[in-house]
Amino acid sequence: MSDNKPLLWTLGGAAFAFVAVVFYWIFALTLSDRMRSDKITPQRTAEFIHAVLEANRNNYTDNVVVKLQRDGIEAHEHWRDERGVPLPAQFLLESGRLVALKDLNLSFRLASLTPIYVWNGANSDLERQGLTAVQKNPENPFFGTIKKGDVRLFQAIYSDKAISQACVDCHNSHPNSPRRDFQLNDVMGGIIISFPIDQ
Ligand code: HEC
Repeated sequence: MSDNKPLLWTLGGAAFAFVAVVFYWIFALTLSDRMRSDKITPQRTAEFIHAVLEANRNNYTDNVVVKLQRDGIEAHEHWRDERGVPLPAQFLLESGRLVALKDLNLSFRLASLTPIYVWNGANSDLERQGLTAVQKNPENPFFGTIKKGDVRLFQAIYSDKAISQACVDCHNSHPNSPRRDFQLNDVMGGIIISFPIDQ
C-alpha cells in the first residue's frame, strides 16, 4: 500500500492540475469574450467619428456644392450674409459648433499650424504636437489625452490633405492665409476629434 503512495500523489496532482487548467481556460475565454463584446477602444471610436465626418464632407462637396455650382450658386466663405452656401470646411466647422452646444464634451474641428484664421490654430501643446506629427506622417493619426476640468478627454488628430487643386488655389490666394505654397496632396492641416473617456 505504502508503495503506491507516490503514484497516488502524482495522479492526484495531475488531476488537480488538469481541473485547474480547464477552469482557468474557461474563465479566460469568458473574460476575453466579455471584453471583446463590451469594450471599444477610443482609437476605434475616433475612427468611426472620422469616417462619418469625412463622408459627410465629401458627400456635401460632390453632391451639393458641385451641383449647385452648375446652377450658378457658389459655395463661398461669406455665405451667411450673401447668396451662396458654406464652403465644405465651414460645413464641417458649423456641425462641430452645433455638436459643441450639446452637453457631451464631444468636439471636432478643422485646424492647421498655418491657419487662414487664428481660431483654427492649435489650442494646446498636444494639438500642436499632433498637427506636426500628421504633417510628417499623414497616414498615421495622432492620439493623446488631456484633462479638461474633471474630465479626461481623448484626442485624435487626422491629417487633412489637399485632395483637389481647388483646396490649393483657394488657400494660396486667400488674403488672410499665412502660407501660399501649398501643392496638390500636401497636408493642409488636420481634423481634431475629442471626446471624454471617463464615463
Ligand atoms: C474657396 C476657398 C476654399 C477652398 C476651395 C477650400 N478651403 Fe479650406 N478653408 C477656407 C476658409 C475660408 C477656411 C476658414 C473657415 C473658417 O474658419 O470659417 C478654411 C479652413 C480650412 C482648414 C482649417 C485651417 C485654416 O486654414 O483655417 C483646413 C485644414 C482646410 N481649410 C483644408 C482644406 C482642404 C483640404 C480643402 C480641399 C478639400 C479646402 N480646405 C478647400 C477656404 C477654402
